[in-house]
Amino acid sequence: MNLQAPCTFSTLLRPKPPLYRRPPPLKCCLTTTSELQTPVGVEVPSHKVTVHDRKRGLVHEFLVPEDQYILHTAEAQSISLPFACRHGCCTSCAVRIKSGQIRQPEALGISAELKSKARIGYALLCVGFPSSDIEVETQDEDEVYWLQFGRYFARGPIERDDYALELAMGDE
Ligand code: FES
Repeated sequence: MNLQAPCTFSTLLRPKPPLYRRPPPLKCCLTTTSELQTPVGVEVPSHKVTVHDRKRGLVHEFLVPEDQYILHTAEAQSISLPFACRHGCCTSCAVRIKSGQIRQPEALGISAELKSKARIGYALLCVGFPSSDIEVETQDEDEVYWLQFGRYFARGPIERDDYALELAMGDE
């Protein structure tokens, strides 16, 4: 039994669907890599950034243009610094500012109070732009997290309770 539709004159003349056409590219007079960054072609000053990596006992010195993230620029120069989210949320890249100023409008993971502390300010390198020559040092593990949220855990950091975990697992 032949189930194919017979080839008729109307099927031969059926118009082909139009091919998808890609819309023309949007025209723009300036190209930027980020809304917060300077348009291409505009000269921006660079600043010397010194990072004391306390955990590894290293000191890194490198130049960062004023419109570039410090962490990204360090990585482009094969300098490895602590990070996790890369979006200004987790505080893994947080540093204590020893001198200089860092612009960090996207730093959501750090409170305004910590950013602007009179004596020791903190900054997130993944979303930080240098506004001057700066010197910073990496933080102790969870230092910024503890400074921001420690008051909510009045008894200190939470310790793992293996016995309670075993009991909980036994219930399942
Ligand atoms: S890497 Fe997470 S805040 Fe910078």
